[in-house]
Amino acid sequence: MGEWVYLNGTFLPYDEACLSVEDRGFLFADGIYEVIAFQRGWAFRMADHLERLERSAAAIRLPLPRPLEDLEAAASALIARNGLEADEAIVYLQVTRGPARREHAFPPRPEPTVLMLARRVQPLDRAKREQGVAVITVPDTRWHWCHVKAIGLLPNVLAKQQALEAGAHEAVFVRDGRVTEASAANLFAVFNGVLWTHPADQWILPGITRKVVLELAARLEVPVREEAFSVEHLAEATELFLTGTTIRVLPVVTVDGRPVGSGRPGPITRRLEEALNQEMERR
Ligand SMILES: Cc1ncc(COP(=O)(O)O)c(C=O)c1O
Repeated sequence: MGEWVYLNGTFLPYDEACLSVEDRGFLFADGIYEVIAFQRGWAFRMADHLERLERSAAAIRLPLPRPLEDLEAAASALIARNGLEADEAIVYLQVTRGPARREHAFPPRPEPTVLMLARRVQPLDRAKREQGVAVITVPDTRWHWCHVKAIGLLPNVLAKQQALEAGAHEAVFVRDGRVTEASAANLFAVFNGVLWTHPADQWILPGITRKVVLELAARLEVPVREEAFSVEHLAEATELFLTGTTIRVLPVVTVDGRPVGSGRPGPITRRLEEALNQEMERR
C-alpha cells in the first residue's frame, strides 16, 4: 500500500502532494511543527501537543488555518489511511506561513500550508536501549526562543551530525556554561538521588515526554529540581537520560567519552523508563 499524506485539508498519495517553490517554510523556515506518538491508533497526550502547537503558532504570529479538532481528526484519519492502526507510529504535523512572493514581511493575506505525514516508529537498536547511549557536549548556538517548536533546526541538525560523526548518539547543548537539552530530546540528570532537569523556559523545548516524566517522578516519589546545572556538574551525575516522543526514556552512559556513574543505566532511569512505557501503552 502506498503512503498517504495530508495537505491543506486533503488526503493525497505521497507522490501527488505538491508545494509551491515559494512556500515560506521552504524559503524562510517560517513555520512550526509537532510530532505526535500513536500507539495502536491512539494518540498519546494529543491535548498537550495541540496546546503546544497553539502556543508555537501564537509566538510566530501565525493564525492556524483550521480548528484544532479538525487537525486532531485528520491526524487519526491519516494513521488509519496508512494502515498504522496496529503499530507504534508518529504523525509529523507542520504549519508554515504558506506560499507568497519572496519578501521578509508577512504576506498581506497568508494562506498557511498544513502538512501531515504518518510514519511507523523504527525501533531503536536494542543494545542502545539496554546498555545506554553516548552523548557529546556542544555549544548551544540556537536562537533565544527554544521553547517555540519552530521548523528552523539547522543548529540541531549540525549538532546531531557532529554527535554521529563522533560515534555518539546525541549532542547535548551547553549555553553560558549551563546544560540545556539535546538536539532532539530533553535531558535529565540524577545528583545525590535528586532528578534534575532544565526549567521549561526560553532555553529549551518543553517536551511532552519531559512533562509526563515529571508527573511520573512525582507519582514514584522521586525528588525533582527543575533547575539548570553546569557542564562541570554534569560530570558528577550518577545517572543521565534523554526523553522524547519516539525515544521515550533513553539512558545515557557516557558524556564526551567519560562514564556516567557506574557506566550503566541507573535505577531511577529504569523506573521512569518502565513507568513511561506503561503510561504510553495505557489507553
Ligand atoms: C530540541 C528538542 N527538545 C526536546 C524534544 C522532546 O520533545 P517531546 O517529548 O515533545 O517529543 C524534542 C523533540 O523533538 C526536541 O526537538
